[in-house]
Amino acid sequence: MRQAYRGSVFHCTGDPGELGDAAAIEYFEDGLLIVEDGYVVELDEASRLVGALSEDTRIEDLTGKLIVPGLIDCHVHYPQIDIIASYGEQLLDWLHRYAFPGEMRFADEQYARDVARIFVDELLDNGTTTALVFATVHAHSADAIFEAAADKGMRLIAGKVLMDANCPQELRDDPQSGYRESRQLIERWHGKDRLGYAITPRFALTSSEAQLEAAGRLAEEYPDVWIHTHLAENHDEVDKIAELFPWSPSYLGVYDRFGLLRERSVFAHCLHLQESECHLMAAKGGAAAHCPTSNMFLGSGLFDLRRLRNESIRVGLGTDVGGGTSLSLLKTMREAYKVLHLQQQPLPPARAMYLATLGAAEALYLDDRIGNFVPGKEADFIVLDPRGTAMSAHRTASTTSIDELLFALIVLGDDRNIAATYLQGKRV
Ligand code: GUN
Ligand code: ZN
Repeated sequence: MRQAYRGSVFHCTGDPGELGDAAAIEYFEDGLLIVEDGYVVELDEASRLVGALSEDTRIEDLTGKLIVPGLIDCHVHYPQIDIIASYGEQLLDWLHRYAFPGEMRFADEQYARDVARIFVDELLDNGTTTALVFATVHAHSADAIFEAAADKGMRLIAGKVLMDANCPQELRDDPQSGYRESRQLIERWHGKDRLGYAITPRFALTSSEAQLEAAGRLAEEYPDVWIHTHLAENHDEVDKIAELFPWSPSYLGVYDRFGLLRERSVFAHCLHLQESECHLMAAKGGAAAHCPTSNMFLGSGLFDLRRLRNESIRVGLGTDVGGGTSLSLLKTMREAYKVLHLQQQPLPPARAMYLATLGAAEALYLDDRIGNFVPGKEADFIVLDPRGTAMSAHRTASTTSIDELLFALIVLGDDRNIAATYLQGKRV
């Protein structure tokens, strides 16, 4: 079935920070996006396409609103919507005081299912159409998030957490059970519908060497699954890694030693990296998830986008809820703008959008399927309403370019500015 959506349309075809806006973005003030069976067929000025539409093509009128690709969250913990906005600690204390106790509740399967459904609804309300997600150590917590995403037709990658050290007893698996359960989950979910599996060692601090080795074995056996973990978020964490793995030249070197650094490896944070780690990540095709609301909330540090992109490292944005403070990627974009501003690095609105769409798709090695409106891609998109709030309506009444409009939405916007979310052309 063919459908067309008429409104202003914006998308990125490359990184505006590297190629410049002229080569990296397309904007149609009165555009038409044509979708068939869930895939993009064509995008152009409405005036050039409307006349040639077949009679049975339904046009949805979104005039006055802005259609952009669905937003992509490269790092988030669904169980942590329970403990988002917990006061006042840095990473390691925060984990023990809030995150771990919160995750213990997911031993209850029904509870995990309930939270997973709320979480997926929140993502869609916020315009997020793809996410890379931590579950908890409980295998059924991964089943729960996959089921919730599959019910909506959402593209989602997730994994059961692997952790067998330096955490409460109730949250530990062991190298064998973690391996076995992950393997069963891969067989059950990876490649089913729009779902993918991520081998998910929490971070090197909470896994024994035996467990990291087992995770590496899985990675070798399943070369097309993702690997999802944390890296160099906090100074105390980095110091502890050096104590625990004295043989390793670096934090990233630990993951690399166990075969956990490759294409489709996504590392949240990457704030305190040595030069050699940047080179290593670039050489092996790993990607970084920049999580600005979390980095400020936990007092972790400032992400250096210029440094990583100079090494051609793939970078996408992550909300990192519950260290992060919002599931909204609009809010995450504006905090990325501020974090980079503090380091004399500009983040123009088109590039912020890139980091939440095509750049994120590249970080996940999914840019052949999602991230923009190139024909053949999955038609996940959102409809931004400049008049979603009184303040955004007032401010955008006087914007005179797509850049100004986007920036106002990034700085002022939230879920009230997401008029609708579409998965493969279907409004959800
Ligand atoms: N490092 C290891 N676990 C976590 C977590 O749950 N949140 C954050 N922000 N960092 C981590
Ligand atoms: Zn995290």
